[in-house]
Amino acid sequence: MKISVVGTGYVGLVSGVCLAELGHTVICVDVDTAKVDQINRGDSPIYEQGLDELLQKNLGTRLTATTDLERAVHETELSMIAVGTPFDGRAIDLSFVRQAAEMIGDALKTKSAYHVVVVKSTVIPGTTDSVVTPALENASGKKAGADFGVGMNPEFLREGDAVADFMRPDRIVLGACDSRSHGVMRQLYEPFTSANILSTNSRTAEMIKYTANSLLATLISFSNEIGNLCKKSGEVDVAEVMKGVHLDKRLSPIGENGRRIVPAITTFIEAGCGFGGSCFPKDVKALIAYGQSLGESMSLLDAVIRINREQPGQIIAMLKKHFHSLQGVSVAILGLAFKPETDDMRESPAIPVIHTLVEQGARIHAFDPVARNEAKKLFGDAITYAETLEDALADSSAVAILTRWDAFKRLPRLVQAMHPQPLVIDGRRMLDKKDFDRYEGIGMGERSL
Ligand code: UDX
Repeated sequence: MKISVVGTGYVGLVSGVCLAELGHTVICVDVDTAKVDQINRGDSPIYEQGLDELLQKNLGTRLTATTDLERAVHETELSMIAVGTPFDGRAIDLSFVRQAAEMIGDALKTKSAYHVVVVKSTVIPGTTDSVVTPALENASGKKAGADFGVGMNPEFLREGDAVADFMRPDRIVLGACDSRSHGVMRQLYEPFTSANILSTNSRTAEMIKYTANSLLATLISFSNEIGNLCKKSGEVDVAEVMKGVHLDKRLSPIGENGRRIVPAITTFIEAGCGFGGSCFPKDVKALIAYGQSLGESMSLLDAVIRINREQPGQIIAMLKKHFHSLQGVSVAILGLAFKPETDDMRESPAIPVIHTLVEQGARIHAFDPVARNEAKKLFGDAITYAETLEDALADSSAVAILTRWDAFKRLPRLVQAMHPQPLVIDGRRMLDKKDFDRYEGIGMGERSL
């Protein structure tokens, strides 16, 4: 198939490159000339594992980039809208989506062959039908469902694993206004013969995307609330509690051989210092705003956000149990990114933790294997930045792990060599209490073994 992908941000570029790898001919379109040139040089503007290799492999043959949207629409059968939908605290901003739809509609005016326009951006339910379709119709003077097709196909890509997630999808959701559009969209993913494909209308596809992220965020806040309770209960460990809970066959079904079929969702329900990133906080808040605009209270999701906002406070509370005042206390912060394998600090729990510690007079020496430059933009000279894990630990009275980086598994050996040992606060429950003289873990009650 011939496809144009409008917007070469994170979702657009990963989708474009992966669709080319699947055998389609892809034209990536962006208004930013510098970005387009960079892509055409085989240099990805974003870092994502495996992306550069696939970009270079397909460039010039099945993949090109351009600023000429009209030509791209004319030369392809399907256009995918993958532009940003920033959240301003009240609602998502749809101006880029609307603008992309208008420009595609403009190009459709002079195109006689049938074309399908697919929304890939995360948008609130109803956007494809009541914003994108009218914009396309007005600009083109043509009728959706008759002269051209419209659909919605959400992405479920995890940052850092986006290429792998695209190439091995656990589900493909196709929302469309009619069966012809569905048929064309289905061809996009023909190579995925064994993937679960759910065909529905656009509004449902939009709702699935928000609901999926909201459920995962809810599970995390649920674990965090239970973990905070376990911490106060004494001799109770949230990790063990969740293991016991998830042995329920309704959560992790047992196969005929007596073993669990589904790898337990415990892998995605770990208590920690809170969720961050560009998706969970934004998507949950956008769904709350959408629900409230329709008169729903959205009280469960409201609580999910509130718990998550308060969760970094657990790190401060654990420190305060051991230090009467944090004034002048030297704290090594390990992990700044919102999750491992990325330098992305958006909504990272490290941000409120560091701000509070600085306010309370602690001396922060921070280390992250890749997020140092991002952190410098946020904290400037208010903290110091370590080059290595060893450097971060030097002279520290306390160490707080905020991101589950594999590199921190070396911590026991390094801490054991220190006299006296610093207090270790494990915000991601990745280490063993037994390895340290003084250890505090999220969700781990006082006297736990
Ligand atoms: C998420 C969804 O997983 C993905 O399906 C969607 O398309 C985009 O949003 P991503 O934001 O890349 O992906 O990160 P993810 O790995 O899901 O982690 C999100 C946050 O939750 C991180 O801050 C992480 O530390 C936290 N988290 C994750 C927990 O606190 N506990 C867990 O058990 C898992």
